[in-house]
Amino acid sequence: MDLDIFNNSTTQLSDKEFMDLKSFVYNTYGIDLSRKRQLIEARLSNTLRAKGISSFDQYLRVLKSDNTGEEITTFLNKITTNYSYFAREADHFDFLAKTVLPQLAKRPKRELRIWSAGCSSGQEPYTLAMVIDQYFGDQKGLWDTAILATDISTNVLGKAQLGIYPLKDIENLPATWKSKYFTKVGEDSYQVVPKIRKEVIYRLFNLMDPINFKKPFDVIFCRNVMIYFDKTTTNQLIERFYNATAEGGYLFIGHSETIDRTKSKYKYVQPSVYQKTSG
Ligand SMILES: C[S@@+](CC[C@H](N)C(=O)[O-])C[C@H]1O[C@@H](n2cnc3c(N)ncnc32)[C@H](O)[C@@H]1O
Repeated sequence: MDLDIFNNSTTQLSDKEFMDLKSFVYNTYGIDLSRKRQLIEARLSNTLRAKGISSFDQYLRVLKSDNTGEEITTFLNKITTNYSYFAREADHFDFLAKTVLPQLAKRPKRELRIWSAGCSSGQEPYTLAMVIDQYFGDQKGLWDTAILATDISTNVLGKAQLGIYPLKDIENLPATWKSKYFTKVGEDSYQVVPKIRKEVIYRLFNLMDPINFKKPFDVIFCRNVMIYFDKTTTNQLIERFYNATAEGGYLFIGHSETIDRTKSKYKYVQPSVYQKTSG
């Protein structure tokens, strides 16, 4: 019998190993692990044991030398917090439907580009797709709309693409949404209908990388992602978001997040909502 499977001991993370791992993650992904030492030990000890790696120092070397992307993916899936839910921070979707969409719909071009940056398991981009579908109704076909949804975790992107959620995840949505946008696919599982799923394009994307998408975005949602970044990383990212925003376009951030208004060119609209406007 393999007694090792009963071994629950934690691999110790020394001060130096923690510093090295912290710098690597910060420099590559912008994620600040300063207060996550215990989380790292707790979440990664099993991974190290399963791979027969005896120290975090050895693990860091494995991470840095892995060219397949597999090790990094497993690591990121372990350390990122992917908590999300449908219609989170509901006033954002309300503002989108009542103010932003009517404004953007006045433009001669019937095109709408939206980005859910740090989309986790899909609840945010699917909520966006549902709001857009509700707003345009039977005129939706006249519009060229696209929602790009990106994350660094392949784990969550896989879940998002499937679009299957337990009943408790959709319970609080309006009854009309539940019947219109979800199909029961199991005892306790509901899947987002194809019409909404096909509105969202999922991509693996590290927010530390240059933003080179073909067209600028009319709306960017980057909520509850920058809480893991420090000020410098956040300011730089906001600047890159600004350059990727169409004139008149909007940026939504999480309610617990802030933008340094002295450093950003975005105009403050209301808490956690900003606009790119020359006026
Ligand atoms: C707490 S979730 C937020 C999900 C959703 N935006 C919401 O508000 O419910 C944060 C997500 O950001 C992603 N993330 C963290 N650092 C990232 C980076 N450097 N690039 C891309 N995504 C990142 C994580 O993988 C995670 O899925």
